[in-house]
Amino acid sequence: MKKLIAIENVSKANQQGVPILNGISASVMQGELITIIGPSGSGKSTFLSLINRMTDPDSGTLLFKNTPYIDLDVLELRRKIGLVFQLPTMLAGTVRDNLMIGPKLVQRELSELEIEHLLEQVGLSKSLKDQDARTLSGGQKQRVSLARTLANKPEVLLLDEVTASLDPNSSEEIEKLIQQLHQQEGKTILWVSHNLKQAKKVGQTTWVLAGGKMIEQGTTNEVFNSPKHTVTKEFIATSFEKEEPVIQ
Ligand SMILES: Nc1ncnc2c1ncn2[C@@H]1O[C@H](COP(=O)(O)OP(=O)(O)OP(=O)(O)O)[C@@H](O)[C@H]1O
Ligand SMILES: [Mg+2]
Repeated sequence: MKKLIAIENVSKANQQGVPILNGISASVMQGELITIIGPSGSGKSTFLSLINRMTDPDSGTLLFKNTPYIDLDVLELRRKIGLVFQLPTMLAGTVRDNLMIGPKLVQRELSELEIEHLLEQVGLSKSLKDQDARTLSGGQKQRVSLARTLANKPEVLLLDEVTASLDPNSSEEIEKLIQQLHQQEGKTILWVSHNLKQAKKVGQTTWVLAGGKMIEQGTTNEVFNSPKHTVTKEFIATSFEKEEPVIQ
């Protein structure tokens, strides 16, 4: 497998100098589906924002296909490594207008066929292309948000709690869709999820962040079934308790 992204000893502090991420190293291989878990505030979103270069580390290096990020065009990199957030923000206009945002930035128009294909990819009816995007349901907006990122033809998808604000049914549908993008289109995916059942089910590899450090990396099976770090053990145990309350 080819190494797509290398993260070498990166650290980042907030404006007050308090460390957010501390000496993180990791590699992303082509075609991998990595789930990233960890307590709230452990630095997961900040980590994704470094990988898509929304922000730069204070020290350490990130490389895409062996080229340091600082030597790559930022916009080009962000297109290749697309980020989808928890709350999909639809811009004023139709679904078509929303899908055109990325391509227009590089003076590219999407044909009607491309728009329909994108909608099909995310399981939306093509008849929605002329609908005002802000009138869609939460699940539909999240699909448009994914399609909008896919319009940039990313090689890597970074997902930050993309199902967290959805009802269980929509959440499961989006989950399946992402798994399809991985299995059928070979997309490389880094998926932050606070839903540990989901992270366990969909992941091949799992990374655990705690207190700004990467405390554990392994196959998803290893991390969930025989975690090495005490913090991972406690985090998994308490999170599953919260997700599945025992009814007495
Ligand atoms: N722009 C910022 N300025 C100052 N501090 C920040 C900034 N962004 C994040 N932080 C701090 O960095 C730490 C990590 O935040 P981050 O959002 O990356 O965590 P997270 O793991 O994604 O949490 P959650 O699971 O709640 O989404 C937190 O203590 C947060 O307060
Ligand atoms: Mg977060």
